[in-house]
Amino acid sequence: MTDGLITVFGGTGFLGRAIVRELLEAGHGVRIAARTPRWPDNVADGDPLSLVSADIRDEASVTQALVGASGAVNAVSLYVESRRLTFDTIHVEGAERVARLAREASITRLVHISGIGVDEQSSSRYVSARARGEAAVLSAFPKATLLRPSVLFGPGDAFLSTLEKLTRLPAIPLFGHGETRLQPVHVKDVARAVEKVMGPRPPAWRLFELGGENVMRYRDILSLVMAHLRREHPLVPVPWPVWRVLTTLLSPLPSPPLTHDQLVLMAQDNIVNPQVGTFTDLGIIPHSLRESLPGCLVVD
Ligand SMILES: NC(=O)c1ccc[n+]([C@@H]2O[C@H](COP(=O)([O-])OP(=O)(O)OC[C@H]3O[C@@H](n4cnc5c(N)ncnc54)[C@H](OP(=O)(O)O)[C@@H]3O)[C@@H](O)[C@H]2O)c1
Repeated sequence: MTDGLITVFGGTGFLGRAIVRELLEAGHGVRIAARTPRWPDNVADGDPLSLVSADIRDEASVTQALVGASGAVNAVSLYVESRRLTFDTIHVEGAERVARLAREASITRLVHISGIGVDEQSSSRYVSARARGEAAVLSAFPKATLLRPSVLFGPGDAFLSTLEKLTRLPAIPLFGHGETRLQPVHVKDVARAVEKVMGPRPPAWRLFELGGENVMRYRDILSLVMAHLRREHPLVPVPWPVWRVLTTLLSPLPSPPLTHDQLVLMAQDNIVNPQVGTFTDLGIIPHSLRESLPGCLVVD
């Protein structure tokens, strides 16, 4: 179906880079679209790869990025908003723009990357914008495929590298009692899912939730990371109201280490709903976090 070119918006990001690699390995032509596009590290001579400058806030550059493409992926992110750049601008208006212009460009297959836990009613502006973004995408491009991953891990990720830093502390603060359940998923598995969706047959589901092999409590993930790094420090429960005060105090910073939106995400389980499409429907067996740790975090 998408034998031709696939434009990957956000193709220089953590997930975007893995998607680009997976699509190239499957024989697709790929165009990386980002505000500052860069060649991937592992590009090989003859890879059918090109770069284009595109900002999903700008109609003309998105149109240009889609010229001649038969597939498109939106893997653009914004995790912390500012007065100048809001979640709505990227996750609702930008997402709608990519979907609408993809449809106008007669793109056959559009994959929109979202996240588990989206909820229009959420007190988190991020979580709510993601839900409205999904609706806007489906309204503009009804046959789009939505992929909602759980938290991503892999070499050079933000998740395990943050936990690694935390495990250097003499005592490791938990969100509440650390009971929130997560289903960390290898970035490569999500990239493989994108490639499968771009395959010859249309996917069986419009919506997929993608989680790793195991559902784990946050505290158990920390213990696993500590065991791998051969560190041993106590896990200390910290009540949620204390975190809420902390995120309020940190909020004036230009780049706060923890935001209200991240706290809301950490307060709810982030696990796959088996009522929608999953890795099983795509024939993918996800990597295990435990077995992947040596490839992700170097032991001192
Ligand atoms: N990381 C996770 O654990 C996780 C979990 C669940 C879901 N997701 C979702 O996966 C997607 C990718 O996340 P990520 O962590 O890979 O993001 P990331 O590493 O922060 O990469 C973001 C990408 O978006 C591009 N970008 C940002 N603003 C843009 C704009 N206005 N126009 C065009 N491109 C823009 C960036 O390049 P430039 O800055 O050069 O434009 C970069 O290529 C997001 O939808 C995210 O919500 C991620």
